[in-house]
Amino acid sequence: MSQLSADKLSVAFAGLKALSDVDLTITPGQITGLIGPNGAGKTTLVNVLTGFQTPTGGAVSLNTASAKLNLSGLKPHEIRRRGIARTFQGGRLFRDLAVIDNLEVTGVGLGQSRSKARAEAAAMLDWIGIGALQNRIAGTLPYTDERRVAIGRALIGKPAYILLDEPAAGMSGPEAADLAALIRRIAAEIGCGVLLIEHNVGLVLSLCDHIVVLDSGVVIETGDPASIRASEKVRHAYMGTAAETNLPVLEVLA
Ligand SMILES: Nc1ncnc2c1ncn2[C@@H]1O[C@H](COP(=O)(O)OP(=O)(O)O)[C@@H](O)[C@H]1O
Ligand SMILES: [Mg+2]
Repeated sequence: MSQLSADKLSVAFAGLKALSDVDLTITPGQITGLIGPNGAGKTTLVNVLTGFQTPTGGAVSLNTASAKLNLSGLKPHEIRRRGIARTFQGGRLFRDLAVIDNLEVTGVGLGQSRSKARAEAAAMLDWIGIGALQNRIAGTLPYTDERRVAIGRALIGKPAYILLDEPAAGMSGPEAADLAALIRRIAAEIGCGVLLIEHNVGLVLSLCDHIVVLDSGVVIETGDPASIRASEKVRHAYMGTAAETNLPVLEVLA
């Protein structure tokens, strides 16, 4: 079976242990949640999985039916070409380019011809339901649309895995529900293995098949939504940090 695996990953920043011996597995067609308080190491983990950060220990590997590929040491674009895509906290679109061009340049970067890249870009925007936005300048979009474009860009080239770093941050309830429906379709219709980093723990519990909880760089709990909801350890991790951001989380946990 195909899987993207982190094996005992560690990252230290000048003495700060951002990740310590973290194991994580992402499976095609499934949604894995990654939660934990601010500073837990969630973005650092995605950075290591996608080649933006070199780990101080451990390895990332891509298992396919025919081979086990060690991804450690590969550059971000090399990892992207092997079917592992990501979005960034805050979007990071090319703000001066039209929406469709944001997707097209990714296809060209992946080795597609201009015409094939443009056709896939248009089809992807339609699939997401934002085809009408294709000629808008990306920097003028409201951020809910910006996030959808960023997800569309990550889906160019049909990656096997997509890692989403807080895609619903700042969204209202109905906006987050729309996004949740899109994330479900990415797993069910495209068959991607999704890693979802999200502060909205209610959204994570409703969407994910499996959840990993990080606190201070350490995996403190893993399990299905019901077991995470009931976990004392998870509740304690959130209680120890800033109350104003974590109160909504504590309301969702048992
Ligand atoms: N490039 C960096 N240099 C130094 N410290 C960093 C760097 N990136 C992240 N950190 C620190 O590592 C810890 C984990 O950060 P991060 O992965 O961004 O957490 P999260 O995404 O869970 O909020 C934090 O203490 C953060 O300040
Ligand atoms: Mg983060």
